[in-house]
Amino acid sequence: MEKKKKRLITAALPYINNVPHLGHIVGSHLPADIFARYCRAKGYETVFVGGTDENGSTSEIAAWKIGIPLDKFSNTLHEEHKKIYEWFGISYDNFSRTTKEIHHKTTQEFFNNIYKNGFIKQGNMKVFYSEKDKMFLPDRYVVGECPKCGYKEASGDQCEKCTSVLDPSQLKNPRSTISGSKLELRETEHLFLELDKLSEKLRKWIESQKLWREQVKSLALGWIKEGLKPRCITRDLKHGVKVPLKGFEDKVFYVWFDAPIGYVSFTREIRKDWENFWKSGKSEIFNFLGKDNIPFHTIFWPGIIMAEGNFNLPKNVIGLQYLNYEGKKFSKSKGIGVFCERLPELGIKPDIWRHYLTELIPETSDSEFKWDEFRDRVNSELIGNFANYANRVLNFIYTKLGGVVEKPKKGKEEKIDSELIEKIKTKKRETEELLEKSEIRKAYSGILDLSSEGNKYINDTEPWVLLKSNPERTKIIFYNAAYLLKTLSVLFAPYIPETSQSVWNQLGLKGSPQDKNAWDDAGKNFDAKFSVNKPEILFKKLESEEIKKYKSLASKGTDLKEFFDNQSKKV
Ligand code: MF3
Ligand code: ZN
Repeated sequence: MEKKKKRLITAALPYINNVPHLGHIVGSHLPADIFARYCRAKGYETVFVGGTDENGSTSEIAAWKIGIPLDKFSNTLHEEHKKIYEWFGISYDNFSRTTKEIHHKTTQEFFNNIYKNGFIKQGNMKVFYSEKDKMFLPDRYVVGECPKCGYKEASGDQCEKCTSVLDPSQLKNPRSTISGSKLELRETEHLFLELDKLSEKLRKWIESQKLWREQVKSLALGWIKEGLKPRCITRDLKHGVKVPLKGFEDKVFYVWFDAPIGYVSFTREIRKDWENFWKSGKSEIFNFLGKDNIPFHTIFWPGIIMAEGNFNLPKNVIGLQYLNYEGKKFSKSKGIGVFCERLPELGIKPDIWRHYLTELIPETSDSEFKWDEFRDRVNSELIGNFANYANRVLNFIYTKLGGVVEKPKKGKEEKIDSELIEKIKTKKRETEELLEKSEIRKAYSGILDLSSEGNKYINDTEPWVLLKSNPERTKIIFYNAAYLLKTLSVLFAPYIPETSQSVWNQLGLKGSPQDKNAWDDAGKNFDAKFSVNKPEILFKKLESEEIKKYKSLASKGTDLKEFFDNQSKKV
């Protein structure tokens, strides 16, 4: 058998300036998790890494605004992020931090190689200086009007409205985030990554990508066409990775230089053989990220990799669009959205969220969270379709067939049976093809269709009518039905892992639908004889009354100040 490749999967590292909301889950962590779970079950040696992006101005400003020392701020928020992703069942092999020593070391090694390879140049840059704050103000220390779309509150590094990557000097009416003061431009010495030298190489590489979604590709090619310029990779800040070059000891790296290197450091942190994931031809890398991160993952980070020279480029860059909330943008201050720190107290199981959120993964365009739709989709698809199928099959076998199913003798199947088996095989193949392209949402709807086929099979064969007159036939029907249920629990496992495991246990199977190679075993090798356990109810329906309650609770996001006040009350 051909030896399976290794796979390294990443989800964009969230800034540590806030507690995540559902948009963050849907925009990277969840799709990356589903893909990672699929890869493990499919037998790839998989490492899935992520962590908090803690260097640079973003966290400094956030901590400063609420008057909390930076290390305490970051430690607390890192734990909160971690807790939330664990609650959702995001199966990170390592969820780490860019403040760790190994990350600083890895970043400096990257820089040294890039420098040696001749892709770094020194140059003067005009940076805003605030007389009032007595400091140079990079990136998010400057706010002003976006030159592209006119948004008034654009940050110096990127406009969050139109996603344009900016330099603070491009902003109109720039002012200091700290004091609101006016700014003047002063010259200082900085280091630049010469992306212009890599433009051709990047273009060819992007054009040759087979898996990238068209949207992502055309955005990336668009930026290349506009012309790549050398990009400044140093900042006048204290907090960050120190620049290991004479004359630059007082500066740190630009956060977008060090953050993606986190994917490497976090692999290195947990695996002695980390280089096999990053430098070998037998490894494939998949990056999951939100829309505003696309320029960095299609141009800037690949540029860093090319300039360094030893690391693999990603095989797919899965750039996702935004999630909106009931027709509006998520906003904590306005109480618009679903805020993750509230979810555990609602008492809705993580798989219920994972079900609806999967259907909202914004693969092709922005998507929208709606509470009524949440209720309807959960009730009709997750519960009415899959859970109902599982319960029907298990219940019948348990109560009417003595809990036992056996493989029928050859030649006993009817046409409707072989059609069902054929559908199982086809659907499994299609699901796999879609997942390989990271079409996670589409693959899910196919699996739900297969579950409907199961319900249809039972309706059409009417086993309850046959039970007395033809018990043999009834057993065959339930053998096939259970065979489908086993396959479904494997196909559903990356999406709703707890539920799949529960169905698996109820079927009386050993191990897990997520075991290495479970994927390839599904749809074949069904045990000749097996005994099901007493069926349990998987979910209870969501009622409209409850939804009202959930809605008001979940939209109360704690603002950061309040969050830290609550924290200090706890200890
Ligand atoms: N912190 C960035 C954001 O939240 C994402 C960084 S992704 C990485 O937009 F590639 F740099 F790691
Ligand atoms: Zn803009």
